[in-house]
Amino acid sequence: MQRHFFNRYVELDPFLDEAHARSLVQLCEDFGSYGMYSEEGLNDGLGEGLPQRFDAAFNFLRTGGRLGPRDSDLGTLVARTNYFRETYAYGEQVFAPGIEALYQSSRLIEAAREVFDRPIIEPAIVYANLLLPGQELAVHTDVPEFRGLNRTLHPQWLIVVAHHSGLFDDYRMPIATSVSWYQDTNGGEFAFYPDGIEGAARAHDVHFNTAVIMDTDSVFHGVDRVTEIDRPIPTLLPRMRLYPEGGGHWVVRDGEEEVSRYRWDDMRFSISWKAYCFRNEAERAAWRNRTDDLDATTVIDALCEDLKKRGRIEGERPPNRALAELLVDEYVKFPPPSVS
Ligand SMILES: [Fe+2]
Repeated sequence: MQRHFFNRYVELDPFLDEAHARSLVQLCEDFGSYGMYSEEGLNDGLGEGLPQRFDAAFNFLRTGGRLGPRDSDLGTLVARTNYFRETYAYGEQVFAPGIEALYQSSRLIEAAREVFDRPIIEPAIVYANLLLPGQELAVHTDVPEFRGLNRTLHPQWLIVVAHHSGLFDDYRMPIATSVSWYQDTNGGEFAFYPDGIEGAARAHDVHFNTAVIMDTDSVFHGVDRVTEIDRPIPTLLPRMRLYPEGGGHWVVRDGEEEVSRYRWDDMRFSISWKAYCFRNEAERAAWRNRTDDLDATTVIDALCEDLKKRGRIEGERPPNRALAELLVDEYVKFPPPSVS
């Protein structure tokens, strides 16, 4: 059985007034250095020993992602997908002064209402992603949220499975995600599947002052490879940081040691914005006051019950790791590579 998600999306081109858009390039530089983002933490208990997002990682390793297999060596694959991220605003806190206008942008709030047809929009986070030439982002859906399930307490892949199963929709908190761009990037298209996994991907060309907004917890999406200028791509490891040096020059360092240098025009900078979308005040209150929470045991029991009905479990539940792999295999169906 294939799930059909509500896949409305909005593209904004141009997005902001030009001076505002240009100021965000300066803000990116003024912010300082960027750490590497990796979700490499391993699971305990259910899914023991597997990475948090083994659903997306295994699919990428198996298929090579949207454009099919191109690398065989694991070190190269790791370098390609270890990009840089920092948070500009979260809840009430602002870490990048000057980001407030985008955080509370009425344009984004209006577009979020349109995507979900829900009136109450509460912006929750703004963060920046920086990808270097040769980097890309595997096709995935984002980690959704449910009342009572939390990515800091529960495995990320399990929360993803819970959403794809469709069994817990009453507890889900729809989140609108916008991604916006402030430079013309060579390659690095934002590819997404608005018509589901059987439909064609739409590759949004990344250029100055444009944005898209959609339900990235439901719509599969990824970033095609940013045009490569270095061959081979340097070994990029999670402890490294990316520093601005002024004048459009950036450098990756491992502690004191320089790893590689880049020009702004060869990089890919995006700003992500996420907002909760509530149907009414009662729903917002249930979320704030935790009066109608789901718990992880209920989720796992219901999923196992469903797996029995589908004939995927007979008798005893499989051990932790095997059960985790079975859950992802049964519920998280990725779009096939689009180039053969
Ligand atoms: Fe994403």
